[in-house]
Amino acid sequence: MQEPKIAPSLLAADFARLGEQVLEVAKAGADRLHMDIMDGMFVPNISFGPLVLQSVSKVTTLPLETHLMIHEPDRYLEDFAKAGASSLIVHAEGAIHLHRTLERIRSLGLKVGVAINPATPVSVLEPIIDMTDLVLIMTVNPGFGGQKFLERTISKIADVRKRIDQLGLNTELEVDGGIDPKTAPHAVAAGANVLVAGSAVFGSPHGIFRAVEMLKRPVGGSQ
Ligand code: DX5
Ligand code: ZN
Repeated sequence: MQEPKIAPSLLAADFARLGEQVLEVAKAGADRLHMDIMDGMFVPNISFGPLVLQSVSKVTTLPLETHLMIHEPDRYLEDFAKAGASSLIVHAEGAIHLHRTLERIRSLGLKVGVAINPATPVSVLEPIIDMTDLVLIMTVNPGFGGQKFLERTISKIADVRKRIDQLGLNTELEVDGGIDPKTAPHAVAAGANVLVAGSAVFGSPHGIFRAVEMLKRPVGGSQ
């Protein structure tokens, strides 16, 4: 099985030492950074906006994958593009004119991602999956880090993997929420090839370096 790509979520980082933490995950072998944008409307929590993205983009060359958990994301696509996002992931539940939103992201020259919540069926992806570079299956309900992985999302991961392969797409399949060295192998076995992890990286008792390694190679990386 191919080694998954690792996208540490900065939501779990120490914001007072953000620059240092970014350098640390980069050195540990992170493939990209996952930026969780929350507006207090689409999800109950508020995180950070384009200014933080812009600062982070100055200290790293890692791609900034930007997960927009915001109501009517169209209003902010350009702002995040200007701030240095490499890809924009919008929720199928939050983008009413999803097809148009995806076209706009593409026209900004960014990679196109679509996320679905645990209670959203994979069928919503069918009309637009061929427009995407990445599909994100939420493995918790979005809004907070440190939640428990929802086992029932495994079958959705497998369904989307099957569809991507059937269509011969290069679309990446990402999982987000409750990913740690125990849950990661299940998500990868079901077909995920990009793992987002917040607490399992920045809150790991083994330290950031080892934490990234344990997610990439969970078999050899027993605790
Ligand atoms: C949740 C966010 C996640 C979060 C993951 O709404 O989308 O990216 O940071 O955190 P962990 O890995 O701690 O579940
Ligand atoms: Zn996220």
